[in-house]
Amino acid sequence: MSSWTSRRSFLERALSLGVMAVSSRSLAAFAQSHPLATLSDALRLGQRLRRGELTQTQWQDQIGPIMQRVTPDELSAAIELEALRRRAAMVARGAAVVPVPQLQQLQHDDGAAIRVFFFRAGRTDPPHCHFNSVTAHRVLSGRFRVRHWDRVREEPGQFVLRATRDRTIGPGELTSISEVRDNAHWHEAITDGVLIDIEQGRLDPSIAPRHRQMIDPTARPRADGTIVARALTNAQAHRRFG
Ligand SMILES: [Fe+2]
Repeated sequence: MSSWTSRRSFLERALSLGVMAVSSRSLAAFAQSHPLATLSDALRLGQRLRRGELTQTQWQDQIGPIMQRVTPDELSAAIELEALRRRAAMVARGAAVVPVPQLQQLQHDDGAAIRVFFFRAGRTDPPHCHFNSVTAHRVLSGRFRVRHWDRVREEPGQFVLRATRDRTIGPGELTSISEVRDNAHWHEAITDGVLIDIEQGRLDPSIAPRHRQMIDPTARPRADGTIVARALTNAQAHRRFG
């Protein structure tokens, strides 16, 4: 019996015996704290964004408090992280990325994804931009240096960026990207570590899907503070940064 089932049974039994006064509000709060309900609510936030009920920055502001309703350990148990780890390919560079199968049990829109990224210390998910999507990465274990840039504009073979964040985060902390804020990112594992990624892509379904684009953001900033980041292939990016 899962801890969710056993806790719910306990509550139902306690209520039927009349030995425990539990308001409907506290029951609702309890249900909300279940890790799969948390993932379901995170996916629902993406659906609301696609329906135009909130902006991309509102999605970024709200996804953290939703994902942080449960602890990294509770989330890891709910997605059976150790089984996913056994399924992860050994990679020489970058992170091993495994889809979270529980996505299929949850209502979600076209373009939604939940994945885990397994890192060895010193490896990075190379710097890249995203298009027509929002994503959030939460640390399940380990410590990461995370750098972000706004994507100011695209030029042939390169992007103009502006650095926005450079910080170190640990278990439970979260970062996010959108078209309009912190679009490019670079996760570097300081220790062995795991990230869970929740994405809502295809925000505008009329735009053809476009894969994330690897970039080199290491050029010196120009006088106006912007950086010219050359576009890289996946192989180039993993050789250079992975
Ligand atoms: Fe990304």
